[in-house]
Amino acid sequence: MKICRTIAEIRQAVEILRRDGTVGLVTTMGALHAGHMALVKAAADAHPSVIATIFVNPTQFGNPKDLETYPRTEEADLAMLEEAGVAAVFLPTGAEMYPPNDETIVETTNLANIFHGVVRPGHYRGVATVVTKLFNITRADAAYFGEKDYQQLAVIRRMVRDLHAPIEVHGVPTVREADGLAMSSRNVRLTPAQRAAAPILMTSLAAAEALLQLGETAQTAAEAIAATIATEPLATLMAVDIVDPATFAPVTGKPNGPVGIMLSAQFGEVLLIDQKEVAL
Ligand code: PAF
Repeated sequence: MKICRTIAEIRQAVEILRRDGTVGLVTTMGALHAGHMALVKAAADAHPSVIATIFVNPTQFGNPKDLETYPRTEEADLAMLEEAGVAAVFLPTGAEMYPPNDETIVETTNLANIFHGVVRPGHYRGVATVVTKLFNITRADAAYFGEKDYQQLAVIRRMVRDLHAPIEVHGVPTVREADGLAMSSRNVRLTPAQRAAAPILMTSLAAAEALLQLGETAQTAAEAIAATIATEPLATLMAVDIVDPATFAPVTGKPNGPVGIMLSAQFGEVLLIDQKEVAL
């Protein structure tokens, strides 16, 4: 596995890999877990070569403490990627990604600022900007993102469509722990009590799904999520949104097609998100 720390190195690695065919990309902020490895597997199933990036992107963190305490496990990450057959990894510095006097941003002006974007101002602008840079740097053919961050996936799809970026974007289903908690690099920051409480996210999504299947309205389903989370003193619901998966428009009333449910909740200092797509 080729370790690349500069743009020139990863570009050269991709140029060589391209001789074998298409290149699939998995972008990460490190602290890899089974969820990331599912992205690598999806990419490997579709492309002769897979490359990965590890970069804790400062521009998508609103809270400096969150950036500072974000887990960094480079050695273990590289071992996992190598084991999975990844051909090259790009681990840039902040200066490599954001040159001096850098002033260009990429923003999906509506999608970045609604739903979870209200709870995390600037977050999706930081994501769209860094992902655009990573797409331009690597020139991969396709990129794989987890469905857990449902809004992130929608932002990236919209940005690729609007900017005519020459890359395919694929969503990969959320990977969960045995008790239903969605895998996330943030889970390690939960205290044991918060970790024990966190599956309430999945429980609340299941309650909402059951109501929607019974023909209840989106509002009733959202209220059921709020009521379920309220039973857990260690969790504070930050946002719950029910959207049309195709347009990402909010769904009100009784849905007449599939919906995506997104929620975020704070456990102490850790913000967790979860999502479920419900076929109706
Ligand atoms: O999902 C993530 O890990 C990050 O938001 C991403 C896409 C790697 C951009 O920094």
